[in-house]
Amino acid sequence: MEKFHEPVLVEEVIYWMNLKDEGIYCDCTVGGGGHLFMMLQRTKNARFIGIDWDPEAISFTQKRLSNFRNRVILCEGNYADLDVIMKELNIKSVNGLLFDLGASLYQLTTPQRGFSFNHSGRLLMQMAPQVIPLYKRLRNADKRTLYNVLKNYGNVPNAERLSRLIFEHRYNLHTTMDLRQIVEENFKGRLLKKNLHRVFQAFRIWTNEEFKNIEQGLKKAITLMEPEGRLVVISYHSGEDRIVKNLFKEFEKKDLLKRLNKKVIKPNIDEVRRNPSARSARMRVGERCVSL
Ligand SMILES: C[S@@+](CC[C@H](N)C(=O)[O-])C[C@H]1O[C@@H](n2cnc3c(N)ncnc32)[C@H](O)[C@@H]1O
Repeated sequence: MEKFHEPVLVEEVIYWMNLKDEGIYCDCTVGGGGHLFMMLQRTKNARFIGIDWDPEAISFTQKRLSNFRNRVILCEGNYADLDVIMKELNIKSVNGLLFDLGASLYQLTTPQRGFSFNHSGRLLMQMAPQVIPLYKRLRNADKRTLYNVLKNYGNVPNAERLSRLIFEHRYNLHTTMDLRQIVEENFKGRLLKKNLHRVFQAFRIWTNEEFKNIEQGLKKAITLMEPEGRLVVISYHSGEDRIVKNLFKEFEKKDLLKRLNKKVIKPNIDEVRRNPSARSARMRVGERCVSL
C-alpha cells in the first residue's frame, strides 16, 4: 500500500475545530487517521474518539496512532449509530465532531475492494463488511431504481439507456471490468473517463447508503454536542453537500446551530495541485448554540 489516504483541508480542520486541551472530540470518519493524527499533534491533553465502519481503516490507524494510545479510542461502527456508540463508551457529549465524508484512497484504489474502474476486482464496493455488495444489489434491483441511482447520484447523461443495459446484464456483472464494459459501450473519448467516474461513484453511494447515513449521523451529532462545540463537515459530491447545507439550515432555524461559514470553504490552488483528489472538497462549519 502506497498511502492509505491524503487528508484534505488539514489546517482548516484544525482551525475550525477550535480544539481545547480539556476537550473531547469525535472524528466520525477516521479513515487512515490523517486528520486525527494532526489534531493529536496540535493538542497536549485533548481526548479523541475515532470511528470508522471499515475494519481495515481501524486496524491501520490503530498502529499509526499507537503513540497516542492514552488519548484515543478507536471504534468500528457506522456513524449513523453515533448515539449508540457514545452510549457504549459512556460519553454523553463532545466538544466537536468531524465528518470527512466519502471513501478513502485505500478503499478506492484497492482492487479487491471493487470500487475502481481502473483495476479488475469483484464488483463489491462495500465500505464495511455488513454492506451488501454491489453485484448482489444489482441482481435485485429494478430498472427504475437503477435509473434513479445513475440520474440522482451520478447525474449521468443517457441514464435511461445505461440503466436498461445494466438491468439486462445484471446477472453477468461480476467484476468492475464487466460494469466498465457497459459504460464503454455508451461513452467514447473524453466523455468516457468522466462518465466512468460518475457511474462508479453513483453505485458506491447507493451501495453504502451514504446519503441516508449522513443525514442520520448529523442529526445524532447535533444532540451530542456541548454548547459552543464545533461541527465540521467535508463533502465531495454536490448531493452530499446539499444534505449538509440543508441540515445546517434546519438546525439553525431550531436555534441548535450557528453556521460559521455561509460560503463553503474550499482547498486552495496549492493543495489541489499537490493532491488533485481535494479539488471537489467543500467544508461547512457550525457551532452549537448555548441553550437558554
Ligand atoms: C475520506 S475518508 C476519511 C479520511 C480521514 N479523514 C483521514 O484523514 O485519513 C472517509 C472514511 O469514512 C468512512 N465512512 C464512510 N461512511 C461511514 C459511515 N457511515 N460510518 C463510519 N465510517 C464511514 C470510510 O470508511 C472512510 O474510511
